[in-house]
Amino acid sequence: MGSNSMLSGFCSNTRISSIQSTKTPFSATLLPPPLFTPSFAQSHKWVSFKVSPCISLRASNRNTRSCRNSAAVQVVGMSSSEDSRTGLKRKKLAVFVSGGGSNFCSILEASLQGSIFGDIVVLVTNKRGCGGAEFAREKGIPVILFPKTKDEADGASPTDLVAALRGFEVDFVLLAGYLKLIPAELIRAYPKSILNIHPSLLPAFGGKGYYGMKVHKAVIASGARFSGPTIHFVDEHYDTGRILAQRVVPVSPNDTPEDLAARVLQEEHRLYVEVVEAICEDRITWRQDGVPLIRRKENPNEFR
Ligand code: GRF
Repeated sequence: MGSNSMLSGFCSNTRISSIQSTKTPFSATLLPPPLFTPSFAQSHKWVSFKVSPCISLRASNRNTRSCRNSAAVQVVGMSSSEDSRTGLKRKKLAVFVSGGGSNFCSILEASLQGSIFGDIVVLVTNKRGCGGAEFAREKGIPVILFPKTKDEADGASPTDLVAALRGFEVDFVLLAGYLKLIPAELIRAYPKSILNIHPSLLPAFGGKGYYGMKVHKAVIASGARFSGPTIHFVDEHYDTGRILAQRVVPVSPNDTPEDLAARVLQEEHRLYVEVVEAICEDRITWRQDGVPLIRRKENPNEFR
C-alpha cells in the first residue's frame, strides 16, 4: 500500500462540520457516522473538536521533546482499513497525555507515514492546555478531558470515557506521559489492550511518585550504570503491569537528570513506535506464565 493511501485513514475519521473548544459547552454539528454517532457525540461537552482537512506530517524530527517542532502539515488522500494481502484490520488508537506529548507525536508521525498500521482517533488528557492536547487539536484529532475533577467539572467520568472510546471504536489505548491512575472500568473494558511507557528499566524506579525528572534523579543517585524505557501492559497500579519491551541506555558518570532524560526519551520514541507497529500487526503473543512477547516481523517464530 502506498504511503499516501496509508496516511489518510486518520483523516477519513474527521467528519465534523463545526468546531467547539473544551472551554465552552460542546455544540458541534457532526456529519454522519461511521465514526461518530450524533447521539453520543453531541451529548458530551468534554469532547472538543477542531475542523481540519486530511493532514499528514512530513519531514519531522523524531527526537524533539515537544510536538511543536515536529512537522509540516500536508493534505493527503484516502486509505484502506484492511490490508488485502494479510487480512489485517487497521487499528484505532487512543493516546493519553498529560504533558508535551513527544511520544504521541512520534506515534502520530509513524502512523501518518505508514509504518504503523493504525490511526490515532482520539487523544485523552487531564490537562486541557498541555502541549500534546494543543497539538492534537491543531491536527484535528478529537480531545477528551479526563478525569472529571473539582477544577475540571466538564471532564469525563470513567463510564463516559469508556463509552466514548467505544464510540470511537478504539482497539488500543496508549499511555504516553499520562500521570493519572487508570480506572478499573477502563482496564476491564480493554483487557490486554492498554500500554504505558515508563522512563526506567522496570521494576526499578517505578511506582507512585516515580515520574518525570524524579525517575532520572533517582537512577543517577543510585549509581545505576544503565537505564532506559520500559513499555508494559497497564493494570490497576502504577507501573506493575506485565513488561512487553525495554531498551537499555547507558548512564554516563557526569550525567545530569536532564541529560539522562533526553537520552532515554530518544529511545522512548523509537521503542514506542516499534511496539505500536507490533500491536497493530497482531504480533503480540502471551507466554503460558503470562509474559507478553513480540514476534519478529521477519520471522514470527522469533521474539524480540
Ligand atoms: C516520558 O518520559 C514517558 O516515559 C513518561 O512521561 C514522559 C512523557 O514525555 N511516562 P512526552 O510527553 O511524551 O514528551
